[in-house]
Amino acid sequence: MKTDPHTFFDSFDLLIDDGLILVDANGEVVRANQAAINTLGARILNQPLEYYLRHPDINQALNSIKEFGETSPLTYLRYDDVQHEYVVKFVAFPDDHCLVFMNDVTARISFDKIRSEFVANVSHELRSPLTALTGFIETLQTTAADDAKARVEFLAIMQEEAARMQRLIDSLLSLSRVEAQEHLYPNDDVQMLDVIKDVTSSMMHRAAHRGMSIELSNNLPQTLSPRVLGKKDELSEVLHNLLENAIKYGYENSKVKIILETDTHNKMVKTSVVNSGEGIEEIHLPRLTERFYRVDKARTRKLGGTGLGLAIVKHIVNRHRGRLQITSDLGGETVFTVYFPLLGA
Ligand SMILES: Nc1ncnc2c1ncn2[C@@H]1O[C@H](COP(=O)(O)OP(=O)(O)OP(=O)(O)O)[C@@H](O)[C@H]1O
Ligand SMILES: [Mg+2]
Repeated sequence: MKTDPHTFFDSFDLLIDDGLILVDANGEVVRANQAAINTLGARILNQPLEYYLRHPDINQALNSIKEFGETSPLTYLRYDDVQHEYVVKFVAFPDDHCLVFMNDVTARISFDKIRSEFVANVSHELRSPLTALTGFIETLQTTAADDAKARVEFLAIMQEEAARMQRLIDSLLSLSRVEAQEHLYPNDDVQMLDVIKDVTSSMMHRAAHRGMSIELSNNLPQTLSPRVLGKKDELSEVLHNLLENAIKYGYENSKVKIILETDTHNKMVKTSVVNSGEGIEEIHLPRLTERFYRVDKARTRKLGGTGLGLAIVKHIVNRHRGRLQITSDLGGETVFTVYFPLLGA
């Protein structure tokens, strides 16, 4: 039975989202699906494929399909605004035609890169406290074995390093939990005022430790009850992380403010956590929610930070279909605002 290449092409096109191109015996494009046209342009039709899919081995690949019926895939890089990487495969077709399949693997490659960077970051963060612990254990077993004063001092450092590892692991678990649930829409009826009061009272002690106080300004319309469809634990975690940062990075003896208001259309409840401090330079703002991103690694590490708090905040806010906004005046106020859709609005 003789097969019409065009019928074949139509059947394949229905099955895939990748670029599909039918090339005739002269290497000219006979058909191209929408994905291929989006990538290479409608101009490819009736033109030699080599003009637009510019790769040194493209003609060799088409020839070996004609001659031997097979060839190896090519890796093709294309630069638009960003670099895209395609794996291009070739299949022999009747009448010396060739079917060219362009699989965009950019997303997979960047995902693999993110994953390996993540593992490298976690390992690095765990290695520092582990190295410190191993070092102190060795010292306590040898040179400082009989030094009571050094023992007390070293054990305190070891405790702090172990606590750092514990915090890192807790944050990682928290992050993976919220990431796993990001596509699920949380649906408890949560009163934001309760969340704010609970978290504030749990942080009072830490604030007082730095001579700071936490003050709530409720600027909501009097009749409005700030209820959101959400998950209370997660909303508490957002506020906890923002308050913790405000206390950690704010000036000693300064005030931390929590401001509760609505957006202009009364559709969203806005919760802002405001602190006075050195602030954050503008170039860092878009990157703060990346995992492990810290403005001043050495300094924030000393403060016990792993750079995961805001990554967790961002995921929870996304899950609640909310928004996070950050502004900072150097030496002035730093404001982290989270918006959540108001229930019934
Ligand atoms: N209120 C703030 N003022 C100044 N810098 C801030 C403030 N909040 C966050 N940052 C900066 O953003 C970085 C990222 O914050 P994030 O909460 O994600 O991590 P962290 O506080 O370092 O560690 P973790 O929250 O995981 O313990 C911090 O390291 C700090 O440099
Ligand atoms: Mg933090």
